[in-house]
Amino acid sequence: MQAKFITFEGLDGSGKSTHLERAADWLETSGLSCRATKEPGGTPLGDALRGVFLDPSWGALDGTVESLVIFASRRQHLLEVIEPALAAGTHVLCDRFTDSTVAYQGHGRGVALDLIERIDAIATGGRVPDHTLLFDLPAEEAHRRGQSTSREVVDRLDAEDLAFYRRVREGYSRLVGAHPDRFTTIDSSGPAERTWRRVQQVLAELLGLEERSLVTDAG
Ligand code: TMP
Repeated sequence: MQAKFITFEGLDGSGKSTHLERAADWLETSGLSCRATKEPGGTPLGDALRGVFLDPSWGALDGTVESLVIFASRRQHLLEVIEPALAAGTHVLCDRFTDSTVAYQGHGRGVALDLIERIDAIATGGRVPDHTLLFDLPAEEAHRRGQSTSREVVDRLDAEDLAFYRRVREGYSRLVGAHPDRFTTIDSSGPAERTWRRVQQVLAELLGLEERSLVTDAG
């Protein structure tokens, strides 16, 4: 089977990053070669740009400036990590990709969607993931989870209000409507173990894993 480029998307607080790490471990244990990575970041340059992007000392930034920083990180990530891994037959699990920019900068900040498309064409050639898992939960719950985390480092987007979260969720919902075959929406408002079972089912089907691996992992 050709290596697949699979992205995990969702609001901050949706639990996608935890499930991605767990999924990568599980796929490796099941004998599949897989690379876990994330955006913004994923390369030394990308990590530096992530630091700039999330630095609260800049305050509110223009959405187009945000998009340009994010796409600089994304291009480097594609060139240095994603495409080489796929070419070598390694599945790539990526925490966020261009759907995040459409949802956050497009719907959240109000950047024109056709401008994002044009930057995307330059930066990635319009690269689209093979499949996307959307971790969905009500904006209120995601916002509450975001506010109640006792992380030491508070990033720039932690300051966003509930209305921003609602717009971003609406953006994701429109993306699902526009690309129903690429997206699988996973309800992440319930217990983490229930969400995890669903993640396993979706990945097993996508990557042709036998039901046996699911049973083994479930103990
Ligand atoms: P993370 O917490 O999932 O690592 O993402 C960091 C923040 O960056 C998160 O608040 C979402 C934001 N972000 C965007 O606004 N646009 C993007 O294109 C990406 C990839 C992330």
